[in-house]
Amino acid sequence: MGQQPNKLPNGIVVRKIETDFSSTPRHWFGNNPYLSHFVNSLSLVFPEGERMFVRSVKHFQKLVKDPALKRDIAAFIGQEMMHGDTHEAFNNWVTEEAIEVRDLITRTDERIRKSADVLLEKSPKSALAFTVALEHLTSIIANSYLSQRNFVDKMHPSVAPILVWHAIEEIEHKSVAFDVYVAAGGGYFRRVLWLAIAAVVLQFAVAQLMISMLWRDKQLTRFKAGFEFIAMMYGRRGLVTSLLPSFFLAFLPSFHPSQIDEKAMLVSWTTALDNMIKVNVVGAKVAKQAAS
Ligand SMILES: [Fe+2]
Ligand SMILES: [Fe+2]
Repeated sequence: MGQQPNKLPNGIVVRKIETDFSSTPRHWFGNNPYLSHFVNSLSLVFPEGERMFVRSVKHFQKLVKDPALKRDIAAFIGQEMMHGDTHEAFNNWVTEEAIEVRDLITRTDERIRKSADVLLEKSPKSALAFTVALEHLTSIIANSYLSQRNFVDKMHPSVAPILVWHAIEEIEHKSVAFDVYVAAGGGYFRRVLWLAIAAVVLQFAVAQLMISMLWRDKQLTRFKAGFEFIAMMYGRRGLVTSLLPSFFLAFLPSFHPSQIDEKAMLVSWTTALDNMIKVNVVGAKVAKQAAS
């Protein structure tokens, strides 16, 4: 149960949650290997991906003069650090208890780190545009996930709160990288080019990891599970189907992430999260350390 008020005035709250995977079954998402390995694959790219987001935002931090945005950057960094640590713990459970993927974790981390190094060296503004794009994708995936109660209900209670928590915070800080990009003088064409690239890269990376996990788990031919996965992704109210309007909205020159109104969703899900798991608000202290 939540012990503290879960909302701070600036709207971006750094929370720490307590995890315990000792009772988590291997196919923790609806007893379905496709759904489970889909989220396992997303989780594999999160820790190093979120470090890349932080590096690209930090690169331009000095250009930001607005005190409110400075505070938001510190909170954004604090949130992403917590996400990275928690998903790392989850990924360790995946490889130690569910399916051996240590080599995939190492390779994925290396690829993302090297790509970030190259991009930050050659074109820091493109690195930031890539982050803006991926932040948009993660926030609309989060919205789609929280909009459909059956996703959360199908997940094992040891994992569902982690994804709810991460989704809430992705929505809370969805504008930060975008506003830093604008402050850094980033333009429209670079932004939408990287949005298109990010959509392809993310899908390719996740599909590759997911197939590899299903193969190692000897579950690739569980066709019924595969059909359920396709329906939950691409069906009428599927995860991907539902996010398409918000995805294309970002191609408008006048787009800003705040145009997608998610206030009511955030209020109801932060309350729900408090009833799912122990949440500690660690905001200012952790965010300050992260930003220094
Ligand atoms: Fe995150
Ligand atoms: Fe994020």
